Amino acid sequence: MARMAAMPASAPDSLASSPATAGAAYTVTLETSGWTYAARADETLLQAALRAGIRLASSCRNGTCRACMCHLASGDVAYVVERPGLSRDEIEEGWILPCVAQARGDVTLAGDSAQRLAEEAPRPLPHGPRR
Ligand code: FES
Repeated sequence: MARMAAMPASAPDSLASSPATAGAAYTVTLETSGWTYAARADETLLQAALRAGIRLASSCRNGTCRACMCHLASGDVAYVVERPGLSRDEIEEGWILPCVAQARGDVTLAGDSAQRLAEEAPRPLPHGPRR
């Protein structure tokens, strides 16, 4: 069962500030694509995805626009903002905002829109003008 907790950025939080968990890495599984990536306890799921070369839908990156909204199929998250832009019903149904959510264990996201940032290396430009 998915669980979420609000975590104000300025409030003390034993999980975020604990030396034992600050460097912990959890596995994030994207159910739609089947991809996985590691997420530290001190970074958001969106930041961790970008670090892993995976682009998730996003816009504001502060929990207000809901562009990143997806379903937490399993695992626990905590929020870096006090009031993420979700209704109580949406939170109870398991919807999350990865741009402001941090993993508190291995998580599985459903309904993501993941894309690889760099599928292949850029090709060099041809030398000189064509004749
Ligand atoms: S990117 Fe706007 S709420 Fe997540």
